[in-house]
Amino acid sequence: MTDADPTRASVRPASEAWTIARVLKWAADDFRKRNNPSPRLDAELLLSHALGADRIRLVLDSERELSPVELGRYRELIQRRRSGEPIAYILGRREFYGLSFAVDRRALVPRPDTEPLVEVALERTRARSMHGAALDLCTGSGCVAVSFAKQRPTWRVTATDVAVETAELAWENARRLGVVFTLDVLVGDLFAPVAGRRFDLITANPPYIPSGEIAGLDVDVRDFEPRLALDGGADGLDLVRTVIASASSFLTPGGVLAVEIGHDQGPRTLELFEHAGFRDVALRRDYGSRDRVVSGLGPKTP
Ligand SMILES: C[S@@+](CC[C@H](N)C(=O)[O-])C[C@H]1O[C@@H](n2cnc3c(N)ncnc32)[C@H](O)[C@@H]1O
Repeated sequence: MTDADPTRASVRPASEAWTIARVLKWAADDFRKRNNPSPRLDAELLLSHALGADRIRLVLDSERELSPVELGRYRELIQRRRSGEPIAYILGRREFYGLSFAVDRRALVPRPDTEPLVEVALERTRARSMHGAALDLCTGSGCVAVSFAKQRPTWRVTATDVAVETAELAWENARRLGVVFTLDVLVGDLFAPVAGRRFDLITANPPYIPSGEIAGLDVDVRDFEPRLALDGGADGLDLVRTVIASASSFLTPGGVLAVEIGHDQGPRTLELFEHAGFRDVALRRDYGSRDRVVSGLGPKTP
């Protein structure tokens, strides 16, 4: 590391002023050396967060010198990112399905890989009644439930999660994104909070990583995201199996079940759907062409 390091308070010659352009280059180079996959983007996002300014401002004001307070704020954010904390937790925001969700350590960071679950849910319910009922199990930040509720404002959506603090975050997102009149958030183990009820659609993105693979995950995920959101038991399919086996008892006749899975769990999950008596079972790939969502129609009679 050179003497010129904005993460250390130092005296520097006037010619080496920490302008926006210079500090950004420094942070991006530092992140690159630490194998950050998006060094320049992270440097920019953190600086705009520290300055409370849009990223375009960083270009327009590139020669502006940062004040010691601004530099101090940026320094703190850089240190957090260096420790592996996901950028979404530092910024407190993540875009999902065109909406801006509040995120923090209470819930998994919403992934683009999960957007196909929303697409499948919308496609498979397109021809259904205006007044359907949907259940989103394992809701986390509420990204799937809220995105669906925004697109289907005449439906009633129920979102559940086993962790109280996670359910609170989902509710905060429902409130911020304006769906509290059509969406409820309940706390409990899988279907327990909705005993005796039936739904036209059930979605779930349960934890599906095999327990033995958790230690080998990237630091961002392993050390910061909730273990409860990741660990799917010995083969990763503990919750997936329970959801598929129980779903028929909570679906209206011919209702839709759609479950997100790991990229190598497609064939086994298709078998589980068939075995549980689902019809018209289909596998959807994500934007990276990996197996991601299995869906099917439940029995015609309850
Ligand atoms: C993979 S995260 C998915 C979060 C969110 N749906 C998303 O797509 O970003 C799984 C979620 O399942 C919740 N969960 C884990 N075990 C559960 C259980 N037995 N019953 C209900 N929710 C559970 C976790 O708290 C976590 O929020």
